[in-house]
Amino acid sequence: MEVEGIRVQLKKYHQDHLLNFWEELTDLEKKELTDDIFNVDLAETNSYFERANASLKNNNKLLDDEMKPIDSDRCGVLNECSEEQLRGYEDRGLREIAEGRAAVVLMAGGQGTRLGVTYPKGMYDVGLPSRKTLFQLQAERIRRLESMAEETCGKRGVITWYILTSEATDKTTNEFLNRHNYFGLEKENVKTFKQCMIPCYDFDGKILLDDKHKISRAPDGNGGLYRALHQSGVLDDMRNRGIRSVHAHSVDNILIKVADPYFVGYCLDKGADCGVLVVEKTEPTEAVGVVCQVDGLYRVVEYSEIPKATSELRRPDGRLLFNAGNVCNHYFTVDFLVRISECHEKDLDLHLAKKKIPFVDERGERQVPATPNGIKVEKFVFDVFKYSSNFAAWEVPRESHFSPLKNSDSAGQDCPATAKRDVLALHKKWLLNAGVKSVLGEVEVSPLRSYMGENLNDLSGVIQGPRVVE
Ligand code: UTP
Repeated sequence: MEVEGIRVQLKKYHQDHLLNFWEELTDLEKKELTDDIFNVDLAETNSYFERANASLKNNNKLLDDEMKPIDSDRCGVLNECSEEQLRGYEDRGLREIAEGRAAVVLMAGGQGTRLGVTYPKGMYDVGLPSRKTLFQLQAERIRRLESMAEETCGKRGVITWYILTSEATDKTTNEFLNRHNYFGLEKENVKTFKQCMIPCYDFDGKILLDDKHKISRAPDGNGGLYRALHQSGVLDDMRNRGIRSVHAHSVDNILIKVADPYFVGYCLDKGADCGVLVVEKTEPTEAVGVVCQVDGLYRVVEYSEIPKATSELRRPDGRLLFNAGNVCNHYFTVDFLVRISECHEKDLDLHLAKKKIPFVDERGERQVPATPNGIKVEKFVFDVFKYSSNFAAWEVPRESHFSPLKNSDSAGQDCPATAKRDVLALHKKWLLNAGVKSVLGEVEVSPLRSYMGENLNDLSGVIQGPRVVE
């Protein structure tokens, strides 16, 4: 198509400013820009902006009477289970693994802007004695769990590791995994797949230019998972492998129990098609979304959507009424994922975030703004709860399950220093429970040795760090 034809198309959608610098471009740049524009579905893009704007107005409405906590018969609490119940869940989870029916979807397509490093977050090393990265810790937990399943069930199954990447993280992630031989996993059982990148806008819905010949784009949020699962053929791969249960989680929780057999076993026991692992929200002011029912449907309600008085409501035992803190940790059956991808993906809510987005100004100069100047539209992985026909929640203690790496150390929370602190504290507890007399300094337990504190009973006396218990 000639440039004038493209201009007419763009004009129809009020995006013809994308050609503002056309005359200055080289032939190659002109080709790159036209390819870039052809890759945008202009009607969909404009509707994204409008829908996200509308949902922002909705989200600003406070919810109240329509909110109800999760039904207690759908919410298991790890700390309240008997040993026998826990053993039952664990056995079911391990059997799922031994039979090759469990997979992990690691969401690692985000840009990690708050942490502020130039490489994917999974490659981050928080400074543990082993200097292992988040990717390595997770891969080794998978290996240990496969061995535990084999010990329990007498059969070695594979946990396939699907890693969601984006244009921002794909190449570096693949090179990194390859360079490290997939940390001991078989290459054919580690599969990366890319999510979409969608345009970024200014506050009036005009698409921003990242360069004179390049549209500014960002990944479409972790809810982009559903489209990517379908488009990349991962769902077909799951079906071909006979996978039934999928544990999906964020890349940045250093304590993540990858393919958590209790959680998977609990969801299987409940016959759930969609499940969420939650940690207790203890302070009404904590800025975490909570899982609850709104008008009879399960969803995550953001902190900003709950009136103060409602957020402070307590149960007879003193715990907050709305206390199911959402931490990006989910269970799905493959059938459920297929249903979402085929029937509901296009209707997922769109969320709008004001961000600092580098852009080319009207004079053609690239600006890196100090304050938010534009909008990214994102889908969220949890927005599918309402499509579940059998929803389940599993509550776990925070100190053994959740410590996210979001910020740099200057923030003082959810940062490398707190992630390292929380791993070492948990491992110290495991060692003391196993009979070690005292743990001095930094002592870490290799995931290849222990997944959740088991297999440490041969240790005793004083363990002096820095040390990695292999
Ligand atoms: P966050 O919302 O914390 O985003 O993602 P982020 O990219 O890690 O960090 P910031 O906000 O830019 O600082 C939660 C999880 O969802 C994944 C992230 O990689 C992380 O594991 N994610 C996020 C995606 O996979 N794709 C996305 O488009 C966004």
